Amino acid sequence: MARTVQGVVSMAVGEPVTMENIVIPDPGPGEAVVAIQACGVCHTDLHYREGGISNDYPFFLGHEAAGVVDAVGPGVTEVAPGDFVILNWRAVCGQCRSCLKGRPNICFSTHNAAQKMTLEDGTELSAALGIGAFAEATLVAAGQCTKVNPEASPEVAGLLGCGVMAGIGAAINTGGVGRGDSVAVFGCGGVGDGSIVGSKLAGATTIIGVDIDDRKLEWAQEFGATHTINSRSEDPVAKIKELTGGNGADVTIEAIGLPEVYRQAFEARDLAGTVVLVGVPNPTMTIELPFIEVFGRGGALKSSWYGDCLPSRDFPMLIDLYLQGRLDLDRFVSETIGLGDVEEAFHKMERGEVLRSVVVI
Ligand SMILES: NC(=O)c1ccc[n+]([C@@H]2O[C@H](COP(=O)([O-])OP(=O)(O)OC[C@H]3O[C@@H](n4cnc5c(N)ncnc54)[C@H](O)[C@@H]3O)[C@@H](O)[C@H]2O)c1
Ligand SMILES: [Zn+2]
Ligand SMILES: [Zn+2]
Repeated sequence: MARTVQGVVSMAVGEPVTMENIVIPDPGPGEAVVAIQACGVCHTDLHYREGGISNDYPFFLGHEAAGVVDAVGPGVTEVAPGDFVILNWRAVCGQCRSCLKGRPNICFSTHNAAQKMTLEDGTELSAALGIGAFAEATLVAAGQCTKVNPEASPEVAGLLGCGVMAGIGAAINTGGVGRGDSVAVFGCGGVGDGSIVGSKLAGATTIIGVDIDDRKLEWAQEFGATHTINSRSEDPVAKIKELTGGNGADVTIEAIGLPEVYRQAFEARDLAGTVVLVGVPNPTMTIELPFIEVFGRGGALKSSWYGDCLPSRDFPMLIDLYLQGRLDLDRFVSETIGLGDVEEAFHKMERGEVLRSVVVI
């Protein structure tokens, strides 16, 4: 029988989020209902609330989550009730032209639940990134549930469901950071610090964190940045060149979503280096670059969807590294909060007071 749970909804652009009763249908074929245990507050949730993603209000927010499978629909074999899972927002289809070419991590036709969750009056909700996890339970496609070692706490595991995975993957999967590389990360929030951690894991020897907030830069150092630059007080391009023998970094990562910062990342990169865009721009933004430099500098300008991760490969592996003490995920959890505290968590994020507020249910 359909169940009703309390969940956090963005009803209209720019309005504070509210708690609403949400009707969750029983899982249909290929679907699962997951009891959410923890869900991090990601900047993308705030982008939704601000109208930066689309106008399909109301949005059921929260998408960086871990929990336990509660029920599965007909034909579901990959997960079963009781499994501890991280929810992923790119459930691979296995059949699109990208999957068929052996590139499932950039699947062009990822799956979400076929049924809609609704408000009590029947209004259909748009689940953020096809998840909607600021609630006691949610309905997803079974492929969105990735089983991981249940010894990891849900607060930590959930982080891999979005921001931290996107950051780690932007460095390792998209940027191809390797041993001895130099990396500059612009924006040291949850995503950017993920890139710093990923660069360290991959063996980068110079890791430069750039932000406009000194507190964020301190945290970036704790995660493994070898140098930091406050781009309000110093020219980040000149400083990155200085720190890399006058050349620029092998890989530069934009983890904010601002054209002016993308331009800095473009200019701070060595010849034949790679620029990775993992920050999400809003639909009105445009960029202008000197065309001759796009050619003359060579290398690659890449975008990173979800860190180009393959959840079935990357989530269990990163949880194992965490449990072995080789990947510091605990440090990303600035605070644990209740479902009613998401609006305040957005303000803390805007004021730069937190890396991740994690809702615990
Ligand atoms: N590509 C993906 O799959 C993916 C996944 C998750 C999040 N994101 C996006 O990544 C971005 C970052 O998310 P987050 O959760 O880390 O956000 P956040 O708010 O935690 O971090 C953003 C950081 O950027 C810094 N910053 C802001 N303006 C700056 C400037 N002009 N120069 C330098 N630093 C500046 C802030 O001080 C903050 O530390 C967002 O756009 C989010 O939507 C993308
Ligand atoms: Zn596919
Ligand atoms: Zn996110």
